[in-house]
Amino acid sequence: MTKQPKKAVLKSPIRAAIIGVHGYVPPDVLTNAKLAQMVDTSDEWIVARTGIRERRILTGKGLGTSHMGAEAVRGLLKKTGTAPADVDLLICATTTPDFVFPSTANVICDMCGIRDVGSFDVQAACSGFVYALAVAAQFIATGTYRRIVVVGADKMSAIIDYTDRATCVLFGDGAGAVLLGPSRTYGIIDALIRSDGAGMKHLHQKAGGSRMPPTAETVAKRLHYVHQEGAAVYKFAIARMAEVATELMRRNRLTSDTVDWLVPHQANKRIIEATAARIKLPVQRVMLTIHKYGNTTAATIPLCLWDYEHKLRAGDRLLLAAFGGGFTWGGVYLTWAYDRRRV
Ligand code: ACO
Repeated sequence: MTKQPKKAVLKSPIRAAIIGVHGYVPPDVLTNAKLAQMVDTSDEWIVARTGIRERRILTGKGLGTSHMGAEAVRGLLKKTGTAPADVDLLICATTTPDFVFPSTANVICDMCGIRDVGSFDVQAACSGFVYALAVAAQFIATGTYRRIVVVGADKMSAIIDYTDRATCVLFGDGAGAVLLGPSRTYGIIDALIRSDGAGMKHLHQKAGGSRMPPTAETVAKRLHYVHQEGAAVYKFAIARMAEVATELMRRNRLTSDTVDWLVPHQANKRIIEATAARIKLPVQRVMLTIHKYGNTTAATIPLCLWDYEHKLRAGDRLLLAAFGGGFTWGGVYLTWAYDRRRV
């Protein structure tokens, strides 16, 4: 059983509120029908087992994760009327950084004209955005910073083996970004992050890091791609996502009637439905984008917020829950800060 603090962890009267959200998905669509021409699969199998109908792929030469992250951040700054000079910190959650170094956050800042501020990447696979949000919330709650951009961006197509039908149907490319600011009324009330490194054997990329640097041999053996034992990951994902959602509900005295939206990581529609069922939330209050974007890793949750922004009202209670490689998992309970119509 995971160790759990008994009370909510963020005690400051100042909360980090999401005051804007924006997203970017590349224009190229990879449909299930196209995948069925590449590997031995079918639209029926993919839809029935995952809920995915299509995903976006970043194809331009020389374009990495930063391209999508910068598109999302530029749109976010424009939409919220925020000058680059007003941003105090930028955090990018990604598992597919442009480079080993510098960080993708550094690169995005440069591309968006955000200068002389702290910026760094957070690597927690599919839980990356929740982790980054939990970190950013501390800087706002302590009064250290007033404007923080949190980006979740991944170019999964860069590390997917398009001859492996078990993984290539699952992932897509995309980016989402939120702007955080201080509020005494709305914002992040609670967050928890967890990990278990023993999960590595089920989900990892074998080569390309310092343990097995890239060589002609590692490339020939296709070791630079996602290795996933789907069935094992599936079981952990449901258990852990439900666990964080339940724990956040318990320690914040929430019930299935008082949670307005579950915002789950989008890995598999069946995982999402099982998580919602365990906390007794009807599917109408569960954000879903997996059918059109697939699993965009750190980008799934901000892309959900972007997609559903027009439906959200100030005061809505949102439960974010994610699970990913590591294993990592985590959740955030927040109240939404604005009505889209008023922004
Ligand atoms: N098309 C057709 N058949 C397929 C495909 C495909 N694309 N992929 C696998 N199959 C076959 C398998 O070969 C197997 O055939 P067999 O019975 O003859 O051996 C059969 O379908 C069933 O395979 P399973 O792996 O048992 O299928 P399952 O129902 O578990 O679905 C899936 C597989 C979709 C991968 C599921 O296990 C899953 O979603 N796992 C979790 C993924 C996830 O949550 N990842 C976490 C985040 S990722 C990150 O952090 C980077």
